[in-house]
Amino acid sequence: MKKTIRDMDVRGRCVIVRCDFNVPQDERGEITDDSRILASIPTIRYLMDEGARILLMSHLGRPKGEADMKFSLLPVAKRLSSLLGEDVLFHSTPSVVDDRVRDMAAGMKPGQVLLLENVRFRKEETKNEPSFSKELAELADIYVNDAFGSAHRAHCSTTGIAEYLPGVSGFLMEKELKFLGDTLENPKRPFLAIMGGAKVSDKIPVIENLLSKVDSLIIGGGMAYTFLKGQGYEIGKSLLEEDMIEMTASLLKKAKEKGVTLLLPLDVLTAAGFSNDEKGVPYDIDRIPPDRMALDVGEKSMRLFREEITKAATIVWNGPMGVFEMSNFAGGTRAVAEALADSEGITVIGGGDSAAAIRQFGLAEKMTHISTGGGASLEFLEGKVLPGVAVLQDLN
Ligand code: 3PG
Repeated sequence: MKKTIRDMDVRGRCVIVRCDFNVPQDERGEITDDSRILASIPTIRYLMDEGARILLMSHLGRPKGEADMKFSLLPVAKRLSSLLGEDVLFHSTPSVVDDRVRDMAAGMKPGQVLLLENVRFRKEETKNEPSFSKELAELADIYVNDAFGSAHRAHCSTTGIAEYLPGVSGFLMEKELKFLGDTLENPKRPFLAIMGGAKVSDKIPVIENLLSKVDSLIIGGGMAYTFLKGQGYEIGKSLLEEDMIEMTASLLKKAKEKGVTLLLPLDVLTAAGFSNDEKGVPYDIDRIPPDRMALDVGEKSMRLFREEITKAATIVWNGPMGVFEMSNFAGGTRAVAEALADSEGITVIGGGDSAAAIRQFGLAEKMTHISTGGGASLEFLEGKVLPGVAVLQDLN
């Protein structure tokens, strides 16, 4: 267990909080999904109420160490001000920290909030160079990491700064570690994991880790076709990672040895190519024609997956069942999302595309927990210790 802001005396002190404000924007720079900003509010509000002086920092996108204004945090400062109903101070500078920022930070009143410019405007950030960590640390008395979504990165603002300041977790970090951690370590059984997404290679370590924990595992999405190919099925033009076929066979063997029920699609919905132009033609997996590409799972698979979800007491889901961004091939992902929404079990969504799908279907409120992490939740599910968590103080 990590110390949190509750364990610190923050009154009158300057607290620097790493948030993950890496939010999607449209071409005009409008924020299209502010759930990560919303998720940071409980920590910020608590620190305001406790009379701390609050500095916030985050990255946005991958500006490669340069001050590319396309990645400025100004839109986030504006959205945060309106969500908090308080002015959030913001000073955009390529150096992130300059004399003006130091003066602003020193002059803040208790309860005031200042957001720094995108920490990735500095090339030192992603290299975790001590010089920038020190510059950040010198602004404050206490470091709080609330950026679960970036906790798999060992950067100045996520780990380096904790060399110079006492580091504790914020409420979002605490919540993520509790839900994802409890789900893996103390699941109510039966425990089901649903894995999807395009590439098997991205998910091997997660599947390996989950096989020692779950009672059943559903595999869907683009990666299912490499599993099917390994089982001797012809998959037409569907996504295939040739060099992973052997690995999928060994995962299936491992599942058998461990007594884990592993479910693959029974049927698929296909198109002539990777496009939403046609409705999609269904085929059983032993009938996929050579010139067709599977872009979603079919009705029989949906029924099979739904039944398994209904039986489970704990479900963790990572990765869509098909190309849900295309309306004709969103059915399988929607069916899983709806089954989770109807489930009486604990439902934990491992961020990224599955979280986006749940929101697209308007089912977010029905889930026990939707992680704000994409890559971070995946690494957590792999069983890795995240560097941004490791640096935080333990509760004795
Ligand atoms: C994310 O969106 O997964 C996090 O904000 C991390 O972003 P990154 O992959 O650019 O480090």
